Amino acid sequence: MLDLLDTEKHFILSHLVRGCTAVDFTMGNGNDTLFLSRSVGPDGKVYAFDIQEKALASTERLLSEHNAPRNYTLIKDSHHRAKDYIKEGSFRVGMFNLGYLPGSDKSVTTLHETTLEAVKAASLLLEHSGCITVAVYPGHEEGAVEGRMLEEMLSSYDRKSFCITGLRIVNSPSSPFVFLIEKK
Ligand SMILES: C[S@@+](CC[C@H](N)C(=O)[O-])C[C@H]1O[C@@H](n2cnc3c(N)ncnc32)[C@H](O)[C@@H]1O
Repeated sequence: MLDLLDTEKHFILSHLVRGCTAVDFTMGNGNDTLFLSRSVGPDGKVYAFDIQEKALASTERLLSEHNAPRNYTLIKDSHHRAKDYIKEGSFRVGMFNLGYLPGSDKSVTTLHETTLEAVKAASLLLEHSGCITVAVYPGHEEGAVEGRMLEEMLSSYDRKSFCITGLRIVNSPSSPFVFLIEKK
């Protein structure tokens, strides 16, 4: 059966070049940051964002436990302010894994207002031929709103500049789904 997380990673790897810059827009426990850090390699760079101090602490721990290359910067700030840290056209791959930190306070979740702003900003900061994945969890109320509003926003992107694919399990509407954003 299709594994959406594997599909996301496969998509990222098919756009990533070793030594490039990657961004984890929702650091959480650091699993995606670790994946990106290893994939870009020691000459690459990873920026990772989260608003919770404990996300930075668990990510730092995970990265050092796994001897990840020292190619990362962990940023305690909201992803919608990414442009304060990353230059336009300077990152190659990015990941959003929306929702709340697994095993933690569910009220600290991504919110559609900042998520939409962050995805829009990320699309502008992205290099040409780069890609962004956005995993949405519609099983909780805010996740369902984020999913609908993202779909509306992404549907309006100019087809000549972006190709946006949605991957969802059509007979399980509350299951997570993914948007794959490619910049031409
Ligand atoms: C589903 S978790 C991410 C899982 C993570 N990628 C991993 O590999 O463990 C979502 C994370 O987004 C964070 N978050 C919520 N709002 C945010 C915002 N405005 N900017 C950045 N991160 C945010 C939450 O604190 C939470 O840690």
